[in-house]
Amino acid sequence: MQYEASPNRYEVEQLIGQGASALVFKGTYENNNVKHPVAIKTINLDKASQNIEQLQQETKLLAMCNHPNICPLYQSMVHQQYLWLIMPELQVSILDLLKTLQPIGFDELIIATIMYDVLQAINYLHQNGQIHRDIKLSNFLMDSQGNTLLSDFGVASFIRPFSNDIRSTFVGSPLYMAPEVANNKPYNQAADIWSFGICLYQLSHGNLPHENCQAMEALLRVIQHEPPKISSKRNFSKQFKELIDACLQKNPSERLNASQLLTMKFWTKRADRQQLIDTLKEYQVMRQPKPNAFQEQVDTANNILQSKQSVGLSSSNWNFDEEDPVVEKKPEEPAPQQIIEENDTDIVLSGVQKLVEEVKKLREENTKLKEENERFKDRLKMFMNQEE
Ligand SMILES: Nc1ncnc2c1ncn2[C@@H]1O[C@H](COP(=O)(O)OP(=O)(O)O)[C@@H](O)[C@H]1O
Ligand SMILES: [Mg+2]
Repeated sequence: MQYEASPNRYEVEQLIGQGASALVFKGTYENNNVKHPVAIKTINLDKASQNIEQLQQETKLLAMCNHPNICPLYQSMVHQQYLWLIMPELQVSILDLLKTLQPIGFDELIIATIMYDVLQAINYLHQNGQIHRDIKLSNFLMDSQGNTLLSDFGVASFIRPFSNDIRSTFVGSPLYMAPEVANNKPYNQAADIWSFGICLYQLSHGNLPHENCQAMEALLRVIQHEPPKISSKRNFSKQFKELIDACLQKNPSERLNASQLLTMKFWTKRADRQQLIDTLKEYQVMRQPKPNAFQEQVDTANNILQSKQSVGLSSSNWNFDEEDPVVEKKPEEPAPQQIIEENDTDIVLSGVQKLVEEVKKLREENTKLKEENERFKDRLKMFMNQEE
């Protein structure tokens, strides 16, 4: 079935998630008087730095991705100042699953099943010359059959522009960032592999490395410290340690690539799908949705979808900084002021960028001083020669 780019055929019912610059709704698409369930993600273009034509071209690229472990994009459209992305409605993000069911980490069999799915998706993107750039647990979504799908490929680029294969723009979530990305150096597919390694760490421990640091501090630690090591108090298998090690190398060229990772021994022991489906069911019992929560956002979204006006540039209708929606969120988070908020990303990044610029300036000054010093020495030599 074709999902057409006609806003008024979509209707939202419930807010199911909220990211740094997007809201995700459960909703429907109407075709021949039948309503088909979909997930509808809206991104406020007032916050994006790309022009609309470029953005639409990129959504076409996304729509061409075709892999069983990549969440498909059915349709994308710009209506008013929002980009609307239409996708299948999946069951739960792996982040919410972890936080709700296993705050100190899943066992290796479950991790292997989930991450083998994700790794195949990453391998597909990398083989096609793409970089995901926002590999993190909230972008891994489970369907009703216990399969995990990688979502939001390319969406990070709507927030910030890019042009080359080797990119040097800051994108993604700081705690998952590879050292070369945190350090504003050019990067390639290996950056995704680092983030994949961080996800393995998070799934096995329940928390992220440097999770309790201030944002800047966390980024500096990623740049300056040795890669995170898994807890020695836990009984992790040798195969798991080897896998994490192969991902978390500070030098990107020393990380294995996705197809090499797929051949590692760790993947030979995986849980069967039924076990994943049971885990999903357990989650569905645990969470307690509030049916009428965020009704205001739902009403606003529907008003915009039904309105005739197409691309407009008026100011934001939604406050994206509102409290997190519901339900699936996170029983065991540390004190709020200690967490890196997604919304802090820009502040953090501009901070690090400033730092990097300052270091650059200092280096340049240093080079100048050295040159002057050399010249001075030369003159001194000449002077001494004349004296002799
Ligand atoms: N297709 C989907 N089906 C079900 N839930 C989704 C879907 N896409 C996103 N979500 C939920 O919405 C949340 C917010 O998504 P997003 O705006 O991409 O931010 P983030 O990935 O940073 O959490 C996700 O964490 C996930 O729980
Ligand atoms: Mg996402």
